Amino acid sequence: MTTATTGDLSRIDWVASSCRLLQATAAEFAVTRPFAGLTIGTAIHLEPKTAALLATLAAGGARLVATGNLSSTQPETIAWLEARGIEVIGGQTRDAAAQGAYLDALLAHEPDLLLDNGGDLFARVAQHPYRRLRGGTEETTSGRTRLMPLRSQINLPVLVINDSPIKQFAENRHAVGQSLFESYMRFTNRSTGGKRVTVFGYGACGRGTAACFKAAFAQVSVVDIDPVTTLEAHLDGFATPLRETAIASADVIVTVTGAANILTTDDLPLLKDGVILMNGGHFPQEIDAGALLATAAEIRNYPQEQITTGVLADGRCFHLLGEGHMANLAGPRPLGNSIESMDLGFTLQARCLERVARGNLGAEACVVPVPADIDAAVASAYLALNR
Ligand SMILES: NC(=O)c1ccc[n+]([C@@H]2O[C@H](COP(=O)([O-])OP(=O)(O)OC[C@H]3O[C@@H](n4cnc5c(N)ncnc54)[C@H](O)[C@@H]3O)[C@@H](O)[C@H]2O)c1
Repeated sequence: MTTATTGDLSRIDWVASSCRLLQATAAEFAVTRPFAGLTIGTAIHLEPKTAALLATLAAGGARLVATGNLSSTQPETIAWLEARGIEVIGGQTRDAAAQGAYLDALLAHEPDLLLDNGGDLFARVAQHPYRRLRGGTEETTSGRTRLMPLRSQINLPVLVINDSPIKQFAENRHAVGQSLFESYMRFTNRSTGGKRVTVFGYGACGRGTAACFKAAFAQVSVVDIDPVTTLEAHLDGFATPLRETAIASADVIVTVTGAANILTTDDLPLLKDGVILMNGGHFPQEIDAGALLATAAEIRNYPQEQITTGVLADGRCFHLLGEGHMANLAGPRPLGNSIESMDLGFTLQARCLERVARGNLGAEACVVPVPADIDAAVASAYLALNR
């Protein structure tokens, strides 16, 4: 008997074949066709796991128009999607104006449903509403914060995936922690044992990040502006020094707060020589990368590693990973969060879009968490596949 061998498969094929929940959902959607006749506009990182999500939505009958987010678009993913008839607008860019033009071009299609990541699409819809829009989903913490004050202008169902307990523990806590740790190793190839690591933000992402570095034998400090959260970090066994002490002692600083200007030029006098600076928050705003580098007397670029070293006038230096963009989707061979966590989160996405498409939700569901019955169904399906 001869053994059949496929041609070489890609990483996207590996990821798609590993997303078991999405595969099951796609098989069901191929029969139920919840998106037949509808266009879904998506503005989410174009990388292999989102490709599996978009293929699932297409299986449900949707016409898709997709664009990425700032900095994270992977050209192979665009090619894979286009080969499957999915229209992709724009490409990889770190230019906010170019990204804005992609979003505007996507909205010019007036999609029936929107899948947003960071609130870019719905913030525009709040300014320029259009009649056929039924609502959609928002993936992130940062997007929810941005859209909350715009609820009366949006006035349509927008389900926030981030606010599902499943997304909170599966992705933000477990997966972001692992992938930011993996990103530190991947970018720098440096050790963690005995290193002093300061994590800014002790929300779901920060808790996982602090735990993963601690498990890799680092000495981890946590800084959070919320005293209750800081107490939690303290009781979890992390050092919680004052901000200045935490910065001055750090060999590695990770920001994962969702807030702007966590590290600025005001902090330069505190930085330890050789400190590594990396961001895990959604927007590249947590480390004021441009201003920090502008104050450096010398800049050394390592383009293949995507590391920029700023040498200060007094001889100290700092190393910035991925220009302060979300480290787990930047740098050489960025992998993002684990496949299983994204399979769970993206199945929530597919089910929430299905719920909005069915038209049973009203404006009272504008920027609200995933309905509890969807959480329960997705959790049961995952457990059933893993028993
Ligand atoms: N890298 C990824 O793959 C990934 C995945 C999910 C979410 N995110 C992003 O990570 C960020 C954090 O998400 P989260 O779910 O942990 O949010 P969260 O709201 O649960 O936690 C944020 C924490 O940061 C603290 N904080 C705010 N401002 C601060 C400051 N100035 N100094 C210190 N602490 C401060 C808050 O008190 C809070 O405890 C968001 O931008 C989110 O979009 C990234």
